[in-house]
Amino acid sequence: MHENIIIINCGSQFTQLIARRLREMKVHSVILNWDINASEVLKLAPKGIIISGGPDSVNEPDAINIDPQILNAGCPVLGICYGMQLLTKLTGGQVSSGNAPEYGVTRITKQADSLLLGKTAPEEFNALMSHGDNVSRLPEGFIITSKTGSGVIASIENAAKKFFGLQFHPEVIHTEHGEKIIHNFAFDICRCSGDWDLTDWVNSTVNDIRERVKASKVVCGLSGGVDSSVSAVLVNRAIGQNLYCVFVNHGLMRLNEPEAVIESYKKLGLNVIYVDASERFLEALKGVTDPEKKRHIIGHLFIDVFEEEAKKIQGTEFLLQGTIYPDVIESGSKKGAALIKSHHNVGGLPEKMNLKLLEPLRDLFKDEVRKLGKIIDMPESIINRQPFPGPGLAVRCLGEITKARLDTLRAADAIFRSELQKANLYQDIWQAFCVLLPVKSVGVMGDSRTYNEVIALRAINSQDAMTAEFTRIDYDVLDKIAKRICNEVPCINRIVLDITSKPPATIEWE
Ligand code: XMP
Repeated sequence: MHENIIIINCGSQFTQLIARRLREMKVHSVILNWDINASEVLKLAPKGIIISGGPDSVNEPDAINIDPQILNAGCPVLGICYGMQLLTKLTGGQVSSGNAPEYGVTRITKQADSLLLGKTAPEEFNALMSHGDNVSRLPEGFIITSKTGSGVIASIENAAKKFFGLQFHPEVIHTEHGEKIIHNFAFDICRCSGDWDLTDWVNSTVNDIRERVKASKVVCGLSGGVDSSVSAVLVNRAIGQNLYCVFVNHGLMRLNEPEAVIESYKKLGLNVIYVDASERFLEALKGVTDPEKKRHIIGHLFIDVFEEEAKKIQGTEFLLQGTIYPDVIESGSKKGAALIKSHHNVGGLPEKMNLKLLEPLRDLFKDEVRKLGKIIDMPESIINRQPFPGPGLAVRCLGEITKARLDTLRAADAIFRSELQKANLYQDIWQAFCVLLPVKSVGVMGDSRTYNEVIALRAINSQDAMTAEFTRIDYDVLDKIAKRICNEVPCINRIVLDITSKPPATIEWE
């Protein structure tokens, strides 16, 4: 068994980020819900316990509380934010509500030597705070090790008992020195040795899938994207040909993409069912120009086609999805948020088809999925594929969607991407693509007047697609791209460059 740090989740949006930081340090962690019994925690022989943040206030009558016996587990305990307040309350200190709330990056000043902050901790550093309550009286045996500019207690510790509290969040990148603090806790205080890595994750996940699925069948929709591909290869390792991968060609993919994607899936040994539904999609989209209508038509038809195929496979019990952690947070936090675009996925399917969900990547972040892809020997072409929207070129072919217009867009898009590759720029861009606009413009070719369509070039850089900056591409490269598109793609006589960031624009045009 690997060394474990137990993370008790009190409802913070950052809990998975704590686990992620520990994974980066090769330390295995287990996230347990706050209502877990101390006896269950002890069974896992933890090297340390972290109590996460959470939205409650410890002074409210129904606030989340943990089994106090957990503090007697005989290992170091670190409380973060709400976790620190809970630790304070359970060990006899006092927490005050609402008199000095702090949200955002705050300056922290060291007050004393600290095992947790470490010998190398700077005297002052920035840290992310997000709290309404604060510790107002220390429990016995604790000292204050740092404070904020407004005098709020930022960290406390009881070195004898190995109890530690941080009012700020060490797990987020906005906290300077945060990674070092978690490292100090795991290695110097809990004495972990770093005996775990992502390869162990692959092995244990493959075993878990095998045990859960047994001899039944699993179906999944493959799109060529990183997340769905990596999850399919993992499940294929566990249950082989009992995983049925349905690839629906909706006719809205890029140039030669369906063929290339199918080819690489076959090389990976996946059991792929190819469905060419392009004519059905084109027919359903005939005459439709409204972006939301396009999205709805594609989303619903995709589910219909997928369901028809999946029903042909007898004995299917599971639906595999490539959900990753940011998808989980987004769907949680989006409650009540304004609808910007209806994203296309197979969300309604599990209930409709009475299938159980399999989501092996649910706890991981995108870059971890890419690392995992490398560990399981997936080709670079899949691992580093730029994000591509579910509705495909439909949201980049503005106005009416016809086969001819899609072919024009495909040809221009292939030139744009290949020139970026030649200029060695493509791999550093988050997304680069062409958009076919619903306007015509006058031009001149040879001695004749032309009245043709317009292509917009869109290239952006981003960390998580929530915000984006347009990519500054060299003018000479742009010139080459524009010339090639106008010369080689019939019907195009004008190229424009999209220089808006997100916000106010979105990455896709529809
Ligand atoms: P926007 O255009 O909203 O896009 O700024 C953010 C990111 O999401 C991708 N995108 C989609 N991905 N299904 C997807 O799986 C969709 O329906 C969809 N629409 C947009 C977009 O390419 C960008 O990476």
